[in-house]
Amino acid sequence: MLTIALPKGRIAKETLDIFEKIFQERFEFENRKLILNKGNFKFLLVRNQDVPIYVYHQAADLGVVGLDVLREKELNLIELLDLKIGKCRVCVGMKNEDELDLNRPEIKVATKMVNIAKKHFSKKAMAVEVVKLYGSIELAPLVGLCDAIVDIVETGNTMKENGLKVVETIMHSSAHLIANQNSFISKKSEILDLYFKIESVLRK
Ligand code: PRP
Repeated sequence: MLTIALPKGRIAKETLDIFEKIFQERFEFENRKLILNKGNFKFLLVRNQDVPIYVYHQAADLGVVGLDVLREKELNLIELLDLKIGKCRVCVGMKNEDELDLNRPEIKVATKMVNIAKKHFSKKAMAVEVVKLYGSIELAPLVGLCDAIVDIVETGNTMKENGLKVVETIMHSSAHLIANQNSFISKKSEILDLYFKIESVLRK
């Protein structure tokens, strides 16, 4: 039996589509249920940022989560496979009319991804004050809460519609299959069996 944490939304759906292709059966959560038991699998529906936590604490053996979330959480997990879904970038954004002023003693950056943002600017030897927000990050520079944001860009529409531009791409992200360190030892054959099945569907 393998327990797999999935992030609510499109990635959960697209991951279950992969399972449907492998097993030629329907894998679907019933309306508001957060657990789906099917064959040898128990799927858990959790918040995106919580997937690494469920897997780290071994409440789930496996998980599917964006590389951006993995890098932000910095937990000791096994990264098994790039599922090539949920592709996006983590970018620095600013108002269209603004430029990154490297001479400023400190810039204010709003983001949900505090660690990624801090690391990025420290690599550039720029002093930043990071303001942690939980969503609607694009609003922050428009009302003077920050000079720049670090946020996810998928289509680019949210930034565009709000008069913001991408000034730098920090990293590319896509959903990855991750494993708990202990599960990977105790359930190695089950996990590898699934790994190869998923890999062969992705190759088609
Ligand atoms: C993400 C991100 C951007 C938006 C980017 O937000 O924070 O706001 O998607 O997508 P786009 O480039 O296709 O416009 P999400 O939908 O996860 O909502 P949140 O702000 O509540 O986290």
